[in-house]
Amino acid sequence: MTILVTGGAGFIGGNFVLDWLAQSDEKVINLDKLTYAGNLDSLRSLDGDARHVFVHADIGDREKVEALLAEHQPRAILNFAAESHVDRSIHGPGEFIQTNIVGTFNLLEATRAYWGGLEGEAKAAFRFLHVSTDEVYGSLEPQAPAFTEQHRYEPNSPYSASKAASDHLVRAYHHTYGLPVLTTNCSNNYGPYHFPEKLIPLVIHNALAGKPLPIYGDGQQIRDWLYVKDHCSAIRRVLESGTLGETYNVGGWNEKANLDVVHTLCAILDELQPRSDAQSYKTQITFVKDRPGHDKRYAIDASKLERELGWKPAETFETGIRKTVQWYLANQDWVQNVTSGNYRNWVEKQYA
Ligand code: NAD
Ligand code: TYD
Repeated sequence: MTILVTGGAGFIGGNFVLDWLAQSDEKVINLDKLTYAGNLDSLRSLDGDARHVFVHADIGDREKVEALLAEHQPRAILNFAAESHVDRSIHGPGEFIQTNIVGTFNLLEATRAYWGGLEGEAKAAFRFLHVSTDEVYGSLEPQAPAFTEQHRYEPNSPYSASKAASDHLVRAYHHTYGLPVLTTNCSNNYGPYHFPEKLIPLVIHNALAGKPLPIYGDGQQIRDWLYVKDHCSAIRRVLESGTLGETYNVGGWNEKANLDVVHTLCAILDELQPRSDAQSYKTQITFVKDRPGHDKRYAIDASKLERELGWKPAETFETGIRKTVQWYLANQDWVQNVTSGNYRNWVEKQYA
């Protein structure tokens, strides 16, 4: 049996592929465009492993996707591929519309054609799992209850609006064509192989490089952090047992203000890799201009996934963040490779 993963050279997709093949011999076809965020270095441990087939392609290339589906006959497609960084979507929304909306549409069309040609058990067992975000629900007031699956869609950034559009397309393909879909909406992930443009890996990277740790606005915005391996286990659960057409929120029950996250990172780094002048990394914290339209608070209520499918995160924020810092300290060569070239251009543009 075979599954097809899109975006499997990115942060979450890459972790998912590694995690999948650590527990199963089921083959993975990994389709990725290798944008700035795609990095085959993360999958080096699979070199020469016949269970992993990498295909350099765009989810929007319908002919190529159709040919791949015909060749490999996957029993499931898991769609991780996306443009994923809010700040980049503010500088240039075009790619977000192209990949997250038009790309998902083309992928759905290719999937519909393939699934339409399946028969019997293969058709009944087929699944299309779409990986989405809690950002589609918009921003919460400080005392408001966490997002449930019933929360209305109120996306505020070009990124979240493009993901919301993709969720609607996925939903419509189930409702109209009966395509067997599942959607997951998860909170902010963190962990190994996270590209250092996002808060946690950026702060670790800048701290070690002696650079400022940029906090947007007052740093009191709240995110709900999920260790990436817990996200992977949730996706496996939903793929195995989720009800067709349903959406599942995935979160780690870890609401933290950005400034507290950065303080925690500094404290762990002070302990594991103290600065040579014995000062705390906290002295590098710098408050910078706020993000336009910055969402104040995200919080996920993951009780449906817990109640219906028996999933629970294995990590607390305290255990997960320590593992993450340890991983970055032990994998500085990975960081060196991804922060050369275009990464520098982005940092100059964003933090000038
Ligand atoms: P990422 O930016 O690290 O990786 C995205 C991957 O998709 C890259 O490998 C990139 O090369 C690939 N890709 C981009 N456009 C493509 C295209 N047109 N065709 C094929 N491949 C393409 O993103 P991530 O953090 O791993 O996120 C994965 C998914 O999870 C996304 O759909 C994202 O919206 C969602 N998500 C992420 C988070 C988070 O905290 N990172 C939270 C919630 C939801
Ligand atoms: P990010 O990791 O970009 O994820 P998202 O915007 O999808 O939640 O940002 C997490 C939070 O950290 C968000 O509130 C913005 C903030 N942030 C900073 O304060 N400084 C930074 O340099 C970055 C990248 C993010």
